[in-house]
Amino acid sequence: MGRTPVTVTITGAGGQIGYALLFRIASGGMLGDDTPVRLRLLEIPQGLRAAEGAALELQDSAFPLLAHVDVTDDPAVAFDGANVALLVGARPRTAGMERGDLLQANGGIFGPQGRAINDHAADDVRVAVVGNPANTNALIAASNAPDVPRERFTALTRLDHNRALGQLSAALGTPVGGIRGVTIWGNHSATQFPDVAHATAGGDPVPTVLAARMGGTEAAHDWLVDQFIPRVARRGAEIIEVRGSSSVASAASATIDHVRDWVLGTGDRGWTSAALWSHGEYGVAEGVISSFPVTSQDGTWSVVEGLAVDAFARERIDASVAELVDEREAVRSLGLI
Ligand code: NAD
Ligand code: LMR
Repeated sequence: MGRTPVTVTITGAGGQIGYALLFRIASGGMLGDDTPVRLRLLEIPQGLRAAEGAALELQDSAFPLLAHVDVTDDPAVAFDGANVALLVGARPRTAGMERGDLLQANGGIFGPQGRAINDHAADDVRVAVVGNPANTNALIAASNAPDVPRERFTALTRLDHNRALGQLSAALGTPVGGIRGVTIWGNHSATQFPDVAHATAGGDPVPTVLAARMGGTEAAHDWLVDQFIPRVARRGAEIIEVRGSSSVASAASATIDHVRDWVLGTGDRGWTSAALWSHGEYGVAEGVISSFPVTSQDGTWSVVEGLAVDAFARERIDASVAELVDEREAVRSLGLI
């Protein structure tokens, strides 16, 4: 392997999603078959043994692209020279915990990690936040990294995007690869807006296909409002109920998709969804990290411009953005940003 390894830092690497991520990254699934990787696994002391165990298994897998693995509980070491940072480790909500408690607990994680990224990561660092509440955790990290361009801090809504593709595919009988133009707007929470107004299935407009299958535009709209949108937006809760714990492999897979598209480009596959720092696009409040329709070229995400937003979409987008603004006010009042 002639190329310089790309340094990928994974926080919470001893946890469930970490375990599902590591082997795909090391096998080239994230950055490509020709890119060697150096993995830096960050854990808290209680999680170190699990991360060390994963490191042993990585060694046993003899991945040709895997240059080195470090395991540490020191963010300064973990983010040293990081080109890609996957912030997975977060404080889960436990019984009796209010939203403010959760934001404060996570502020204690993502503030210091933002500062460590600021001080130690490579100049080209790209950050994807997975740990919940992902959008606001990304905002906290970005706000604590003043020397890193804000556009480099993103939060994962690709899982929601993939869920929307899966639901549409099942409803329409079109393979997921034939569906384009789906957008997740807003927060990675139940307020998110999965939008199919501009989507196509097999080249045909999804709203038209739905109306034809469901007996008219009103019936199609009812299906979107009563079934599709809540199913996608509450899929995380459904997985927790059915599996007994939150999504792992699908979350890791979406994280791989997010970073691969960011670094290698979306090409001619149309747009996907990612939560980015808002500059006010589509009337979204500036300075929150909100999901948009995005493409990537040369390692940079761009928000797709010029999509029509009707009154229904406006209301849904505004509701999710209002939640992001509330979360921002909460972390601001806690002194976290
Ligand atoms: P997990 O509990 O199995 O693993 C989390 C790991 O993070 C643990 O090993 C823990 O020790 C570690 N950790 C905690 N604080 C840390 C810190 N300060 N630094 C480094 N490591 C730390 O949880 P999981 O199933 O892997 O999920 C991780 C997070 O991802 C959760 O917040 C979950 O809600 C979130 N999630 C997000 C999405 C999404 O689409 N954005 C989807 C699924 C899960
Ligand atoms: C998911 O969307 O599966 C997770 O964000 C759910 C959760 O609360 O961990």
